[in-house]
Amino acid sequence: MGSNLARNLASRQGNTVAVYNRTHARTEELVTAHPEAGFVASASIDDFVASLTKPRTAIIMVQAGAGTDAVIDQLAERFEPGDIIVDGGNANFQDTIAREKRIAPTGVHFVGAGISGGEEGALNGPSIMPGGSEESYRTLGPILASIAAVAEDEPCVTHVGTDGAGHFVKMIHNGIEYADMQLIAEAYDLLRTVGGHEPAAIADVFTAWNKGPLESYLIEITAEVLRHTDAATGAPFVDIVLDHAGSKGTGVWTVQNALDLGVPVGGIAEAVFARAVSSKPAQRAAVQRVVTSRPDVQKTDAAFADDVAKALYASKVVAYAQGFDAIIAGAEKYGWNIHKDRIAKIWRGGCIIRAQFLNRIADAYDENPDIATLLEAPYFAQAVADGESAWRRVVATAALSGVPVPGFSSALSYFDSLSVKRLPAALVQAQRDFFGAHTYHRVDKDGIFHTLWSGDRTEVATEGSSH
Ligand code: 6PG
Repeated sequence: MGSNLARNLASRQGNTVAVYNRTHARTEELVTAHPEAGFVASASIDDFVASLTKPRTAIIMVQAGAGTDAVIDQLAERFEPGDIIVDGGNANFQDTIAREKRIAPTGVHFVGAGISGGEEGALNGPSIMPGGSEESYRTLGPILASIAAVAEDEPCVTHVGTDGAGHFVKMIHNGIEYADMQLIAEAYDLLRTVGGHEPAAIADVFTAWNKGPLESYLIEITAEVLRHTDAATGAPFVDIVLDHAGSKGTGVWTVQNALDLGVPVGGIAEAVFARAVSSKPAQRAAVQRVVTSRPDVQKTDAAFADDVAKALYASKVVAYAQGFDAIIAGAEKYGWNIHKDRIAKIWRGGCIIRAQFLNRIADAYDENPDIATLLEAPYFAQAVADGESAWRRVVATAALSGVPVPGFSSALSYFDSLSVKRLPAALVQAQRDFFGAHTYHRVDKDGIFHTLWSGDRTEVATEGSSH
């Protein structure tokens, strides 16, 4: 990804790019393979620093972790006030906050920048989410804008906020990516298992969906993957892939931080858990040994595929609404002034979740930045209402068919939890007060109360806060 980003930078008018790798052979390989880039190559960190014009700007592209600190320290020791170090890896935003705090006294700017789009995006135009100081962005902004993807004639880059804001938003992007991918996988499983369609036919369905409101890079590549056949066996490629999903961890970070922030991100959490469940072969084999029969429900009519499309869209709205709720909560906790419409706009191109759908999110936050949830935005409220009965039919069919749809069903339950007037949380509060005297509020008067469950069960008013 680092090589492709360097090639992208070098391909833009007016950019001269210096390159350095601890393994000099890799630098030589890059320079030899791409003479058109006109790279200025260095074999040592000192030569690399000396080759940069001031204010020096270095973009680090290394695997997040200890290696990042080593390179940062080498540069920080040699850089001068006003110079800029950019970490373009998937670093944990807490590490970025700490690094920025450590380096700031030297006058060197440290910027954590989320860069999304994989190898292809790095070369042809990623979505870029830089944090760091306003001052650093004055220098960095034009450089990043020259290499970012362009959507609706706007570069997919914005100054997300100070210190770790960029890596935080990239983390949420990845969490949403997990949820989106899981929902697509569930739609595929329903069309395959209940709809009885073969992968190539499902690829055609996804291609058709990609011409409507479900249009997205992930839908597009899913059709490509499902259309692909395995050269060695001639079988559909998806059938020869082992169904144990891995992850590099950014989805887990998203859920951990959302839990700390008190933000329900069920769509992302179910996607993380679904990957974990898929990678428990011993447990899966154990249960398959004791489960002697499985339901067999077929719905091969075209109406079922239309229902699945509606359920997918409604569940996607929930997952994105939850992701943006986490961004709002993070901005509040860490003191970032994050413009949600700008984040949606820079996600329209270059990144893995790029889609027309993000224009609708940008419009919603443009119209009212303070909406309580995207689910109340008129466009999405109408879309979910239009798809609600199909959504319920699909979740019910999945349950009756034995097809696991943790993403679809958790999204529907989240929607129902927000929609109903009364939740069974009242009973939970009563239970907590019964065994732990954790107190409760009443619906009919102010105050905090406790019932003397082990005594005469009279109610007493208490001080303090109900917790
Ligand atoms: C991106 C991707 C990228 C991600 C890889 C692996 O925005 O370009 O999100 O950052 O790390 O796709 O992700 P997982 O291994 O966690 O699925």
